[in-house]
Amino acid sequence: MYRTHTCGQLRIENVGQSVTLAGWVQKSRKLGGMTFIDLRDRYGITQLVVEADAEASLIETATSLGREYVIQVTGEVIERESKNSKMATGDIEIKVSKIVILNKSVTPPFTIEDESDGGEDIRAKYRYLDLRRGPLQRALALRHRLAQEIRTYLDGQGFMEIETPYLIKSTPEGARDFVVPSRMNPGQFYALPQSPQTFKQLLMVAGYDRYFQIVKCFRDEDLRADRQPEFTQIDCEMSFVEQEDVLNTFEGMMRQMFRNAVGVEIPDPLPRMRWYDAMDNYGSDKPDIRFGMTIHEITDKVQGFGFSVFDSVEYVGAIAVPGAASYTRKQIDELTEWVKRPQVGAKGLVYIKLNEDGTIKSSIDKFYTQEQLQAVAEAVEAKAGDLILALCGPKRKAQTMLGVLRIEMGNRLGLRDPKVFAPLWIVDFPLFEWDDETQRFYAMHHPFTAPKPEHLEWYYSDRKEDLERVCANAYDFVLNGTELGGGSIRIHEAAMQERMFEILGISKEDAEYKFGFIINAFKYGAPPHGGLAFGFDRVCALFGGQETIRDFIAFPKNNQGRDVMIDSPSEIDQIQLDELNLDIRPIPQK
Ligand code: AMO
Repeated sequence: MYRTHTCGQLRIENVGQSVTLAGWVQKSRKLGGMTFIDLRDRYGITQLVVEADAEASLIETATSLGREYVIQVTGEVIERESKNSKMATGDIEIKVSKIVILNKSVTPPFTIEDESDGGEDIRAKYRYLDLRRGPLQRALALRHRLAQEIRTYLDGQGFMEIETPYLIKSTPEGARDFVVPSRMNPGQFYALPQSPQTFKQLLMVAGYDRYFQIVKCFRDEDLRADRQPEFTQIDCEMSFVEQEDVLNTFEGMMRQMFRNAVGVEIPDPLPRMRWYDAMDNYGSDKPDIRFGMTIHEITDKVQGFGFSVFDSVEYVGAIAVPGAASYTRKQIDELTEWVKRPQVGAKGLVYIKLNEDGTIKSSIDKFYTQEQLQAVAEAVEAKAGDLILALCGPKRKAQTMLGVLRIEMGNRLGLRDPKVFAPLWIVDFPLFEWDDETQRFYAMHHPFTAPKPEHLEWYYSDRKEDLERVCANAYDFVLNGTELGGGSIRIHEAAMQERMFEILGISKEDAEYKFGFIINAFKYGAPPHGGLAFGFDRVCALFGGQETIRDFIAFPKNNQGRDVMIDSPSEIDQIQLDELNLDIRPIPQK
């Protein structure tokens, strides 16, 4: 037996016992004649002590230990003189009588402690060493716990876990596909699934009326803190359901996950917000409702007074930043530069300071009287001491910019505490988005999403205004400003699906080529069905109080989509290319 206990297990009750532990040497230090060693495994750290009067050979072995040596020690649990309340094992230490070196280690490239001295790149290269650190071990343990909760809950609700293939046909869902050449079918390619969307719908046609899968999905898109090229979904689908059934089922799952994994009770029922209200009030379809500072339209309060910037636009909106009237000129200039960055895209920023003494100071004093500015303040529900920030432009664009500004001000004022959880559903999305550039409609969710039954007349109308009004039977689960999941009630009739492709400008031939299998399947008694998928990595990160998903994935990619540990992607040799009947064109120099 290599060990009687783990390094996180022993407590004051164990004093007097003889134990054997195995693990990694986190660090060792000499104090007087004694040697102290921190021994680590994934359960914790236990302090070892080799006394000054121990056998010479034992002292020699103890002093020879380097960082990350793997050792086995035997000794007696004793009470510590100076206890460490920060460590679970901090009341005790092991008085060592025997050390066996199981394996040596070369000096690691960074310190493997909760606070490491290693930069991001070096830690990514030695991910297996980084994974030894406490924060990452806790992140993966949380991921495991959540996966268990999901399986237990869904199994209890009668869901079956069914795997779907990874080598599939390219079925665009908004992002680019990763493709895989087929050796046996030269010149042809598989695509890796962006999600199992069509397969889960086929499973409904096949009669498996409650399906789920914790599944890898692949999307070739630009990466951000909450995006990886391969990520994991909790993918679910149900038959004979309406939106209400789906929301209730997954609210229940989330409630159980919050309760059992992080000890948090979320509201019952969860708040729901229409997409239109989310955009109007928060400038985002994933509003962070942990704080107020909502957006107010002030167009009619500011137009017609000769300020041409406001007079010439569709929409003017503003937020009231609490207690920020004290912002200095320099701070406002800096904020103005901030909103002009391409990521926000504003042309300028108008401010109105409501000073504590009742006076009003603004960047548009030339055009407005104090009373007119007071009317704006009332419309924005601002009070003395607040700073009003206004942006303008086409309605949705201006609202989106205000939404980004609102989040930034929330960050600056410390209103976005990661330990506070404010989940909600967003419902009633528009079914289509019009794109001016390509002059066509796109599906806001995906082309299998059903219109709301009460909007069917508009759905079959040929007028653009009608189609723009059609709401989708779709919903997103949003937590703290992040979209954790989304789904919809699906189209289950071939004719309605064909109409969808028609609206999206997908020709009959193209639809047949890309989606023939599903259109065909719908002819054989497809049940009404719907479902959703959560981004599991995002769920883990937010439950763990972080925005970056990378630490919750054992082997993630960097921002360039590279795995620097295994050095991938990489070239393949000529033999492989020949087998695949592929030629590589000269790579253009950047
Ligand atoms: P959607 O595209 O909204 O829906 O994806 C569902 C959830 O997956 C997560 N997600 C990601 N997480 C990490 N990295 C990425 N690149 C990434 N892309 C998406 C998000 C998102 O909410 N088939 C539909 C679901 C359905 O209709 O049932 C789908 O894939 O948290």
